[in-house]
Amino acid sequence: MADRSKTARQTRVLRAGLDRSQHLETSEALYLNSGFVYDSAEEAEAAFANPGDRYVYSRYANPTVATFERRLADFEGAEACRATASGMAAVFAALACQVGAGSRVVASEALFSSCRVVVGTILPKWGVDVTFVPGADLDAWRDALATPADVVLIETPSNPMLELVDLEAVSALAHAAGATVVVDNVFATPALQQPLRHGADVVVYSATKHIDGQGRVLAGAVLGSEAFIQETFMPFFRHTGPSLSPFSAWLLSKSLETLELRVERQSQTAALLADRLAAEPDVSLVRYPGRHDHPQRTLAAKQMDAGGPLVTFELAGGKPAAFALLNALELIDRSNNLGDTKSLACHPASTTHASLTPEERERLGIRGGTVRLSVGLEDASDLAEDLLKTLG
Ligand SMILES: Cc1ncc(COP(=O)(O)O)c(C=O)c1O
Repeated sequence: MADRSKTARQTRVLRAGLDRSQHLETSEALYLNSGFVYDSAEEAEAAFANPGDRYVYSRYANPTVATFERRLADFEGAEACRATASGMAAVFAALACQVGAGSRVVASEALFSSCRVVVGTILPKWGVDVTFVPGADLDAWRDALATPADVVLIETPSNPMLELVDLEAVSALAHAAGATVVVDNVFATPALQQPLRHGADVVVYSATKHIDGQGRVLAGAVLGSEAFIQETFMPFFRHTGPSLSPFSAWLLSKSLETLELRVERQSQTAALLADRLAAEPDVSLVRYPGRHDHPQRTLAAKQMDAGGPLVTFELAGGKPAAFALLNALELIDRSNNLGDTKSLACHPASTTHASLTPEERERLGIRGGTVRLSVGLEDASDLAEDLLKTLG
């Protein structure tokens, strides 16, 4: 097959970014090294005169990390990608490389709690002006972006209430205000949503979640145009050191080979569990972007290929009912993490979102009875039995 770019994404992902060594191994080689050597002093001088021409130090670039970066960029449909040591390193670096005192950031208010701390507490300490917007409200975006801005940060679907932001509409408003649009695409995963196709400029991931998908590594990634990565992101990244370890990158390259298969299956199971939960009288609310009763179902159909691997629901009995359900689980694990082959259930109000004030949680719809379920690869009927056994 001469032109691989015309093949399906699932075909390409098995070999994209592969850079075989002189040994012609089948699987990806693992270069577990920090430094590189030179045949002469002149070669070292040339390497520093022309950064990017060859590997000089693994904080800047490493062959195993580069394989993962090329493979994820191909999968996402992005020109360039840089991997980071965690999702938060990706979010922070993608923002910090663009702002300084006097810059303006506009962000959806339903952000993962650490992202809220970065945007709402850390950036303002450095003189960055920040405006939070209710993500589903286009009029609020229009108002906020009537004033020029430098960066817009969007999380869609949001953690944990699975609220969507209209990528195309907000990107258009952001561009008119002079802002770069950064999308945290963790919940949709690159298998189900590619924000760059809907007008965004930069995509960030916690690769700790579905990209690894097997609970093994902490990692992140930043994707965008070659110009953004080389001219805006790299000058910050090279000197601040949020680099990914080659060993983690090697695992992640292998994980990408099965990402689409895993997420498709997890989405099918999540849709089924959402329907089963909605039929239970003890369940007062189910939030699932693939369901007919999601308030933004038309937008979900437009920008996502399926509802995704997460379901959030609320029990009418509040926190005692949520804790009773969580404590009765025998198959699904209780965990604040998500995006694993093992299904994980979490009580956001007392864990991931405990740092918000009660008023902030109420505003985002995170209540005592709210449970977030990250659906894994177990058999759907086994999961339904474990989840529903204490209800009704
Ligand atoms: C939406 C979202 N963004 C970013 C992160 C941060 O990722 P990491 O834990 O890999 O730093 C998380 C982690 O849960 C998340 O859910």
